[in-house]
Amino acid sequence: MQTKKNRNRMWAFIIPYILGLNVYQASGEDNSTQMYYVKLTIEESAIANITQILNPFVAGNTQINDLKKTTECRNVLAGQECSCMPYFRWSNEVCQSSQKCCDQNCTFTNIPAPMCVSNNTVAVSGSIVLTGVQYHNCLKEKQSVEFQKCNNDLLKEMKTVFSTLRGFDILTITTYNLSITPPSVCYKNHPILTCTLQEVLDGPPLWQLKRTDGVFQIFNGTESMVTSEPMSTSVRLNAQISDRWEGEYSCTYTQQINSNTITHIASAVMDIALLPNIDSTTSPAFPHCKPDSDFVNVRVNCDIGTNSQENYTVTWTGNGLFTGITASGPSGGVYTGATIVSCTPPPNGTKLQVTCTFNNTCGETRNATTDVNIIYASDPFCAADRDWGDTKVGYTAYLKCPNAAGQRQRKCVDKGKWGVELAACVNLNVNLVLQKALVRQ
Ligand SMILES: *[C@@H]1O[C@H](CO)[C@@H](O)[C@H](O)[C@H]1NC(C)=O
Ligand SMILES: *[C@@H]1O[C@H](CO)[C@@H](O)[C@H](O)[C@H]1NC(C)=O
Ligand SMILES: *[C@@H]1O[C@H](CO)[C@@H](O)[C@H](O)[C@H]1NC(C)=O
Ligand SMILES: *[C@@H]1O[C@H](CO)[C@@H](O)[C@H](O)[C@H]1NC(C)=O
Ligand SMILES: *[C@@H]1O[C@H](CO)[C@@H](O)[C@H](O)[C@H]1NC(C)=O
Ligand SMILES: *[C@@H]1O[C@H](CO)[C@@H](O)[C@H](O)[C@H]1NC(C)=O
Ligand SMILES: *[C@@H]1O[C@H](CO)[C@@H](O)[C@H](O)[C@H]1NC(C)=O
Ligand SMILES: *[C@@H]1O[C@H](CO)[C@@H](O)[C@H](O)[C@H]1NC(C)=O
Ligand SMILES: *[C@@H]1O[C@H](CO)[C@@H](O)[C@H](O)[C@H]1NC(C)=O
Ligand SMILES: *[C@@H]1O[C@H](CO)[C@@H](O)[C@H](O)[C@H]1NC(C)=O
Repeated sequence: MQTKKNRNRMWAFIIPYILGLNVYQASGEDNSTQMYYVKLTIEESAIANITQILNPFVAGNTQINDLKKTTECRNVLAGQECSCMPYFRWSNEVCQSSQKCCDQNCTFTNIPAPMCVSNNTVAVSGSIVLTGVQYHNCLKEKQSVEFQKCNNDLLKEMKTVFSTLRGFDILTITTYNLSITPPSVCYKNHPILTCTLQEVLDGPPLWQLKRTDGVFQIFNGTESMVTSEPMSTSVRLNAQISDRWEGEYSCTYTQQINSNTITHIASAVMDIALLPNIDSTTSPAFPHCKPDSDFVNVRVNCDIGTNSQENYTVTWTGNGLFTGITASGPSGGVYTGATIVSCTPPPNGTKLQVTCTFNNTCGETRNATTDVNIIYASDPFCAADRDWGDTKVGYTAYLKCPNAAGQRQRKCVDKGKWGVELAACVNLNVNLVLQKALVRQ
């Protein structure tokens, strides 16, 4: 808005105005506000009526709540000589670049001249913690579409809240940091957990894994590798990790400053999309075709233990079966497939088999195949004895150890002749120690 070409009588003003926006972005009751800045070059005589002059700029459903002149500049030979209006000051940057600007008029050669800021202006910086998966994409590469969408969504959401602060100016998200990443991994990935530091901390970090059965320190071992850089530390878990590595991870730095001990801790929970160790057996172990029966019912149990929290899709396939397989379970960690097998042996010696395939949430699969060993009517066998069921000659029957880990086994050595029972039962507490030892190694 230049009214006259007389340079010496032109004055420049920088004016911020707060627009009240009552239509959008506001969360809750409060209307959003937004700061706008205008630089106005006008004739000296018009200075008195600036507010009036600006009124035409206000349009639609916005209103000017506040209008202040921040900086006044006069064209001089060297450039522009500017001064701050009362309640305004030069920003720290201007002050630092030229000491005499701090409290006096300042001459700027590069135009446009900087603007004075309110002497109440504050810059607020801080961090927020976002939980939940909806912001995971903010951790992707800055160029990716996913990142940009996540970033925009988050900016919009945060602005909605911040813009209700009167005089809210700008919101900049600098970085997305993740203390520990990633929170959920697929079995075949080699998950890397990283603690990012905000300053260089001395000393090696202490990495720990907290599980329901205790807290374990993580060292370099066959399944884990701990590395440290000045500003970060990582644990890399190797392939074939199991649920033993599931739990809350933490990295701890201990700093000694004078007589104070400062502990820096970051922690996060890691869920592993696991593949189970499948123990598959038939029930009964040796389905027995009685002399007058044409078919025998067979159930196959795929047991993955009761500790598994993972949701698997289990599919069943079979070989040489008379019918398809009806799935049921899981019940106590056992998935069951029921089928019917003919009591006529397959003519060409086809092996009767049932396979259960576990598919985890990452789409990774693991299967277990069980041979279905039928005792046909003419086959010799060992008749059931105590908790041992009918067993085909030449085969070994297995039973779980009661209240202990491991198996008992007994072979049917000849028709009606059982061998001795061999037990490899491990006290459950000892087994737990073994599992802990594996993490510790
Ligand atoms: C928001 O703006 C509307 C319209 O200008 C006004 O009636 C209302 O009082 C404002 N609300 C607040 C909390 O300032
Ligand atoms: C400033 O406003 C007054 C009263 O509203 C008016 O009389 C005067 O002409 C205006 N001056 C200019 C330069 O617009
Ligand atoms: C802001 O400026 C006013 C007037 O120039 C002054 O009275 C006040 O002390 C200043 N406030 C601060 C925090 O500098
Ligand atoms: C500073 O600038 C203002 C207006 O631009 C002027 O009135 C004042 O005399 C100047 N002060 C000094 C010390 O140059
Ligand atoms: C985020 O990480 C960067 C480096 O990766 C670091 O410069 C910055 O200070 C961190 N910010 C926060 C809030 O942790
Ligand atoms: C673990 O092993 C890696 C690679 O061999 C090595 O860089 C690192 O320093 C070791 N970490 C510790 C804590 O010894
Ligand atoms: C498995 O599915 C159930 C029900 O859909 C859900 O409540 C549970 O959180 C899921 N578990 C995991 C580990 O995803
Ligand atoms: C046995 O016969 C079945 C069909 O009767 C056939 O599908 C299978 O391939 C044969 N197996 C062998 C080992 O010859
Ligand atoms: C595993 O399950 C997912 C969805 O449940 C499916 O899309 C995928 O094809 C399955 N993978 C295999 C190998 O069966
Ligand atoms: C079982 O898994 C193995 C290895 O992943 C695969 O080669 C085989 O085809 C699978 N068997 C069945 C019946 O899905």
